[in-house]
Amino acid sequence: GDVAVLVPAAGAGLRLGPGGPKALRLLAGEPLLVHAVRRVAASPSVHLIVVAAPATEVEAVRSLLAPVAPVTVVAGGAERQESVARALAVVPPEVGIVLVHDAARALTPPDVIESVAAAVRGGLPAVIPVLPVVDTIKEVAPDETVLGTVDRSVLRSVQTPQGFRHNVLAEAHAAAADPLTDDAGLVEKAGLPVTCVPGSELAMKITRPLDLILAEALLKLP
Ligand code: C5P
Repeated sequence: GDVAVLVPAAGAGLRLGPGGPKALRLLAGEPLLVHAVRRVAASPSVHLIVVAAPATEVEAVRSLLAPVAPVTVVAGGAERQESVARALAVVPPEVGIVLVHDAARALTPPDVIESVAAAVRGGLPAVIPVLPVVDTIKEVAPDETVLGTVDRSVLRSVQTPQGFRHNVLAEAHAAAADPLTDDAGLVEKAGLPVTCVPGSELAMKITRPLDLILAEALLKLP
């Protein structure tokens, strides 16, 4: 494998309701992070996995993941972007491709991980898995008055893992000013092309209580 996968897992998960860091919440009896790392480790391209854990949970996360896969665990930061930067800092320079994958997308299939890695290996600087947008999207004013309807055919919902040439991600993070919600956004700001590949409904982000119910149902699919 020529790929390192960074797994930011240091978020509080407040939108999921009370119950501790999101990555450690149980789904079918196992923490989300275990589901996520198991699928990352099943991807043949993956050579190194770096998890950014909540600072108080670094040792606990090491023990939790030891039976799942060989992983490096670092302390995450206050913002997702900082958690990613701390994980990126321990990737050796000879690793050519770096993927960034949210622990919250715990059911992302290995074939999505492989297709993102393959597109970067094929020469693209930055690659993101996406789905079409199904809802009608409105732009609204602060008082909730509709300003207009956005043409959804040109919109995509963005998932993870997002894949990068190692130097592209490192330079984008080094140049980052304001925190963004994804890493490809940093690359866009640097003026480099970001290319979409098909994502998967299984790569949904487990964010709200309903998502846990959906994820339990998805796990039971044949
Ligand atoms: O909050 P959000 O759902 O966008 O978080 C996406 C991912 O980033 C989650 O896996 C979460 O654990 C991680 N994260 C992090 N450090 C933070 C905030 C979020 O690693 N400070």
